[in-house]
Amino acid sequence: MAAAAAAAAKPSSFLILRPRLNQFLKPLFVSSSVPLGRARLLPIPTPLFSTTPRTHSSVAFARSPSDNGGGGGRSGALAPEPVAAEEVQKIDVNPPKGTRDFPPEEMRLRNWLFRNFREVSGLFGFEEVDFPVLESEALFVRKAGEEIRDQLYCFEDRGNRRVALRPELTPSLARLVIQKGKSLSLPVKWFAVGQCWRYERMTRGRRREHYQWNMDIIGVPEVTAEAELISSIVTFFKRIGITASDVGFKVSSRKVLQEVLSRNSIREELFGKVCIIIDKIEKIPLDDIKKELKSVGVSTEAVEQLLQVLSIKSLTELEEIVGDAGESVAELKQLFSLADKFGYSEWIQFDASIVRGLAYYTGIVFEGFDREGKLRAICGGGRYDRLLSTFGGDDIPACGFGFGDAVVVELLKEKGLLPELSLQVDNIVCALDHDLQGAAATVASILRDKGQSVDLVLENKPLKWVFKRAARINADRLILVGSSEWQRGMVGVKILSTGEQREIKLDELE
Ligand code: HAM
Repeated sequence: MAAAAAAAAKPSSFLILRPRLNQFLKPLFVSSSVPLGRARLLPIPTPLFSTTPRTHSSVAFARSPSDNGGGGGRSGALAPEPVAAEEVQKIDVNPPKGTRDFPPEEMRLRNWLFRNFREVSGLFGFEEVDFPVLESEALFVRKAGEEIRDQLYCFEDRGNRRVALRPELTPSLARLVIQKGKSLSLPVKWFAVGQCWRYERMTRGRRREHYQWNMDIIGVPEVTAEAELISSIVTFFKRIGITASDVGFKVSSRKVLQEVLSRNSIREELFGKVCIIIDKIEKIPLDDIKKELKSVGVSTEAVEQLLQVLSIKSLTELEEIVGDAGESVAELKQLFSLADKFGYSEWIQFDASIVRGLAYYTGIVFEGFDREGKLRAICGGGRYDRLLSTFGGDDIPACGFGFGDAVVVELLKEKGLLPELSLQVDNIVCALDHDLQGAAATVASILRDKGQSVDLVLENKPLKWVFKRAARINADRLILVGSSEWQRGMVGVKILSTGEQREIKLDELE
């Protein structure tokens, strides 16, 4: 109110020139003690905050000589010193190759995606964690010859430490689990959404930085954990409109390969390496795969057996070939039975060729794929019961998945399922007089304190401009602060969707 009084006391030529706001409001006035939503509004043909009354907008122009309708500099301001030619360094305005800017429209999409990641994780009772993007390089250096090692963004910092931008979140999670040690009560159910860096060859949905949603369960040795994780991804897909006819999961177990290797008396240390070679099966010629397997010490006979097993596409066939004695068949059967109970059987299929390209997986592995076969893996994960001991910790059974932000957006585009996300602000608040900017700030604060979002017009702008902006930001209400209304402790309010308009007392503004 102090602001109102101050504005009222100030003589203003604007007040003489501009028509009073309540001249527009008069025919519309409805008791301001009734909340606007419930007020009986009188139908009035002429709009209150019409953009047409020239006097109004021309007055606003008159008050702002420097204003050309789009904002701008002050007339009479000192011109900046010219920059010396040698100081000018023309920059490339594009972000580094494979990385992205997130202008507002991209950020809205990213926020929408992450919100869904977080909400689904919450539905499954997971807690959010995060780790530094910059980690010690050693965390990501495994000996199995993974592609991810060659894609590492790594360097020496100023303290001569070898560091790397994380290419994935799992090693950091394992580090934190070891650090927390016995203070953790198992099972731990953690999720994270974080940026990862890989110097990848760029393809559709694959870039040099991406965000990954991870969900991991630490401390559960049973397949119930994998079943729960796949269920969470299915829940996510359903939420964003993707169905089992768009996407499926290929599931296998590395234990199948392990059984073949142990039957052929192949050393256990070779297991990771063998898996990494086999994971390249669709990328390089089969003969090269065979050569690589032999070069690490897998016999010709074992190579043939491995390749035969990898072509199996049904659990029954797997059982016929590897027998039902091993753990792999039993676990896979249990997973499919649980999938049935969870209600996502139609989403999953057995495919022995799924091995995954990270050395640490030890059991069930899975990958989400688009059924049209146009895109690379949408997500992937599995069991990694021995990762902790490779970092010097005690092993704890663990499994999880990573789900990137890029491929799923490509998929949503393909299916025409990208959500329409536009900026939406509850109110746009505008002072009709430069002297009333403080009053408008008071109005904005009142509304914000009540949890309403407000776009406050920060300069003197013509009403035409304000209406355009209101449309662009999808404002629900336009609130005009005019001098005579302000003197009476009122503001003009227009519901932009219906055109309803009236004066409301400041202390009744909701
Ligand atoms: P990953 O298969 O390497 O697994 O990556 C998981 C997902 O991250 C991929 O399926 C894909 O959606 C996304 N992704 C990976 N690289 C890129 C890239 N260059 N550009 C865009 N998206 C990409 C892992 O990272 C494991 N750490 C997942 C995990 C968590 N396993 C257990 N817990």
